[in-house]
Amino acid sequence: MIYNTIFAKSFSRYEQKKLGYGALIGFLLIVLSLCTVFKPYLGPLHDYERIVPKNPFNAARISTQMAKVEGNATKTLISETSISPTKAEVEKLETRKVEQEQPLCVSEARTEYCQTQGDIRVHGKSSSVYTVSHETNSFAENVSWSIRPYARKTDAYAMSSVRKWSVNTVKASQQVSQCTKNHSIPAVIFSTAGYTGNHFHEFSDIIVPLFLTCRQFNGQVQLIITDKKPWWIVKHQAFLKKLSNYEIMDIDRDDEVHCFPKVIVGLKRYHKELSIDPQKYSYSIKDFRHFLRSSYSLKRVNAIKIKDIGNQSKKPRLLILSRKRSRSFTNTNQIAKMAKGLGFKVIVMEAGRNMRNIADVVNSCDVLMGVHGAGLTNILFLPENAIFIQVVPYGGMQVEWLATNDFAKPSEDMNIKYLEYKIRLEESTLIQQYPLDHMIIKDPSSIVKQGWEAFRSVYFDKQNIKLDVNRFRPILQKTIELLHQ
Ligand SMILES: *[C@@H]1O[C@H](CO)[C@@H](O)[C@H](O)[C@H]1NC(C)=O
Ligand SMILES: *[C@@H]1O[C@H](CO)[C@@H](O)[C@H](O)[C@H]1NC(C)=O
Ligand SMILES: *[C@@H]1O[C@H](CO)[C@@H](O)[C@H](O)[C@H]1NC(C)=O
Ligand SMILES: *[C@@H]1O[C@H](CO)[C@@H](O)[C@H](O)[C@H]1NC(C)=O
Repeated sequence: MIYNTIFAKSFSRYEQKKLGYGALIGFLLIVLSLCTVFKPYLGPLHDYERIVPKNPFNAARISTQMAKVEGNATKTLISETSISPTKAEVEKLETRKVEQEQPLCVSEARTEYCQTQGDIRVHGKSSSVYTVSHETNSFAENVSWSIRPYARKTDAYAMSSVRKWSVNTVKASQQVSQCTKNHSIPAVIFSTAGYTGNHFHEFSDIIVPLFLTCRQFNGQVQLIITDKKPWWIVKHQAFLKKLSNYEIMDIDRDDEVHCFPKVIVGLKRYHKELSIDPQKYSYSIKDFRHFLRSSYSLKRVNAIKIKDIGNQSKKPRLLILSRKRSRSFTNTNQIAKMAKGLGFKVIVMEAGRNMRNIADVVNSCDVLMGVHGAGLTNILFLPENAIFIQVVPYGGMQVEWLATNDFAKPSEDMNIKYLEYKIRLEESTLIQQYPLDHMIIKDPSSIVKQGWEAFRSVYFDKQNIKLDVNRFRPILQKTIELLHQ
């Protein structure tokens, strides 16, 4: 079920400029026919908007106040230093204080999160966060937002497994639970439900967003997990330990009232997969890769540069990422032999859960090649200027969109050179399973109409690849050329 909605996902992510207009029209027809099936997942794109709380009356009051405060923020700060403030200035000062205590809840293309600051209390058992207002005439009482802290908000299937948190504002005069544990550092609450278990989603939906949200605290941050998966923490421990100096807190059954000066519920996330827009945030995906390398103590920053093609004393290293269960190469030995003939040192590895091993091996290589699948996420560990070859299985435009959006486009921002090899039908084992006039062979987009499950079970689960090494050779030759630059 992991990939139940990935297809819908590929639509919302899809960018028109990459395709010709004819293809575009075909695509739109397919989208139309699919809209009913995937409607819940086709979310809005890009717009950054403040989330409206559950109780709209209070919300209206808040947004008016917030607008005032934001528009005159600098002014208020100046008036704070004046010796005898006027009545109007005093009022402004109060408004500013209130603003600090207001949760700022925003909704973006792929995520929703709330940032709170002040007297913040977290109660795990009831999955509640309270912002306690100490203003007597505060307008902030009893406002509440609802957040599922997992960064793939338009994907209803993924989100259904994510625990819902409420972010509330209350007055100190109300009966608020007293702090039983005081903390002096900020906290970030996030879920490891959704598509956790799929390597690609673990990075795209959690690891990269976590970096984007928490890096600013320079280790001085408490990570709080909801929907905890203990194996996930073990798997990513090197990264998590680098990101936070504190033990991760498992919150769901916790009956303590934990108090923090600042809490972020949910994660920031750029809409593009495995990417961070440096125009929008203070970090880029290059910073993320740098951070990953230092988390795993990886030595190689740059890929090899071949100065002299005849000099074989140091060979470029080619990693063939193999898969066992599906979309595997049936002639790995033949591919390896051909690559060796071209001067590569060839390493064959199947990516498992041992991140340290994966990180070491991938980082030691200059070129990574593999069939489209979650394992390709490991390009994140490649050194700068390395080369990534994605082998795209048979399955028409649908498979190509996924290949483009999940890996080709993300790799553009990573300082990695991208090459693509689309297999021909003759290289797919599907031709041994179905007659040539079968719809599966003739018209993959007709299978899409049966739903993602049907599509995936054929093109992603039943297909293996016998790479035509003669047809593939020019790609590896191009690789060598690129390693000269
Ligand atoms: C900012 O302050 C000025 C003067 O005090 C006022 O005229 C203006 O409306 C304020 N702007 C906002 C957004 O509240
Ligand atoms: C807020 O909640 C408290 C306690 O539940 C209640 O006494 C109070 O009347 C509420 N205030 C508003 C404005 O709804
Ligand atoms: C936490 O801090 C508050 C405010 O300083 C204090 O009143 C309370 O006793 C502290 N609680 C604990 C358990 O230390
Ligand atoms: C070949 O590479 C080795 C080690 O990198 C270097 O010492 C040697 O000078 C190179 N030879 C040529 C001809 O470039």
